Amino acid sequence: MPEDTEEQQETQTIEKYEFIEDLPGVGPATAQKLRDIGYHTVESLAMATIRELEPVGISEKKAQQVIQAARSSIGISFIRADQLLKQRQSVARLTTGSKVLDKLVDGGLETQTITEFYGEYGCGKSQICHQLCVNVQLPLERGGLNGGVLYIDTENTFRLERIVQMSNHLGLDPEEVVKNIIYAEAYTSDHQMFLLENSDEIIKANNIKLVIIDSLTAHFRSEYVGREMLASRQQRLNKHMHKLTALARAFNAVAIVTNQVMAKPDQFFGDALHPIGGNIVGHTSQTRIYLRRTSHGPIRIARLVSSPYLPEGEEILKVTENGIEDVSEEEKATKSRGR
Ligand SMILES: Nc1ncnc2c1ncn2[C@@H]1O[C@H](COP(=O)(O)OP(=O)(O)O)[C@@H](O)[C@H]1O
Ligand SMILES: [Mg+2]
Repeated sequence: MPEDTEEQQETQTIEKYEFIEDLPGVGPATAQKLRDIGYHTVESLAMATIRELEPVGISEKKAQQVIQAARSSIGISFIRADQLLKQRQSVARLTTGSKVLDKLVDGGLETQTITEFYGEYGCGKSQICHQLCVNVQLPLERGGLNGGVLYIDTENTFRLERIVQMSNHLGLDPEEVVKNIIYAEAYTSDHQMFLLENSDEIIKANNIKLVIIDSLTAHFRSEYVGREMLASRQQRLNKHMHKLTALARAFNAVAIVTNQVMAKPDQFFGDALHPIGGNIVGHTSQTRIYLRRTSHGPIRIARLVSSPYLPEGEEILKVTENGIEDVSEEEKATKSRGR
């Protein structure tokens, strides 16, 4: 049967490795050192760079071989552009709970890249994170990903009560929902980085499809104060974001970070609000959404500020006891009459 020879050849020549110690050249001692620096799975090794493996103490050549074997094992190498399309098609989408916001981002928040929500205190960033924790557990036909969550909380604002309220609203059993949320509080920026760097095994074992860092920048901002610290802060943030992207790609998961804004003097337009972390965070978050409060209580404005392939745009939504919801036509009419 000549039609399927191409596929057959691929499966014949590519070795699949389940555990890192199965990789050629990785003995028990090397495997232990790899674990010590956060590589517990073949998937995460496939996304490593040679420099990242330096602390293991193996030669550059060997590091390259190990990474290459991991990559071919999970099927990353040169591919034809038509296959790229196939890879792109494996991107899945997670509903935000608001149909208009989903539409703004082409059907939901995508896997394999980072989405950043930024805005002032109280604009609803953490509320969206809570909502996503519940939504990701929904079946595909309801906009979920049938998976679990890894939640890294840096400001101690995660509240189980909210998860229970939102689960009940969606008809999910809160007791089951909370079992699929793996939670960690990060006490410093180093701790935050450490948690993420050691999360690959947890992600794999718990079928995690959503990784949240709320907030990405709070610790970095309070620890790295002053101009002379800026370069090292940016370097650390860059490394952290790189790791998050690698995990999102390796496990086809949605990655969410939140970010605060600060006023930056602008010569021409007066003080403007800018997200913290500047270019580093901006370039590594593929999709950025700016959230704003309004004078109408629960109503918020969500603006798609940057996306690699979508136009900018704005929608309104609301934050209620039920979670993130669309604003009804009726409510919109009432507001526009100024009541
Ligand atoms: N149980 C609730 N019912 C209705 N609205 C809520 C509830 N809990 C929080 N909110 C809304 O969310 C806001 C806090 O948003 P949050 O996501 O914590 O902000 P941040 O952007 O600082 O993370 C509150 O000011 C309130 O408007
Ligand atoms: Mg918050």
